[in-house]
Amino acid sequence: MKIIISAVAITLISFANSATAADAAQGKDIFYANCTTCHPAGKNVMVPGKSLSKVDLETNQVNSAAAIIGLITNGKGPMPAFGKLGVLSAPDIENVAAFILKQSEAGW
Ligand code: HEC
Repeated sequence: MKIIISAVAITLISFANSATAADAAQGKDIFYANCTTCHPAGKNVMVPGKSLSKVDLETNQVNSAAAIIGLITNGKGPMPAFGKLGVLSAPDIENVAAFILKQSEAGW
């Protein structure tokens, strides 16, 4: 009986971990694989005023996880709709959004 309870507890703990907070470290890998062509070091080579700096994200009102996730999912102008196109999964998008917020706070 004890063993079963422990097994259930472990399963619940692993589930909780996988379902929790976005992981900026994983987001970093996703960013370097998909975003650096247009956003090297958090810049924007296509539309310079729409960089991933804290100031630009604030000015353009893309400074929350929800707003960044929406933009990556649906794209905007020349920015590809990574979610809709099926390039990135929802957890991937959450992780890369967490990475962007972290980097924008740190100044890239
Ligand atoms: C083909 C070039 C291209 C790629 C690749 C690209 N982006 Fe963008 N990104 C853009 C452009 C252009 C904009 C400006 C869109 C607009 O608002 O008109 C933008 C805007 C953004 C913004 C909002 C910036 C602001 O200050 O308004 C975020 C956040 C962002 N991109 C994240 C990402 C992430 C994360 C990836 C990779 C998963 C990515 N982008 C890949 C071109 C790209």
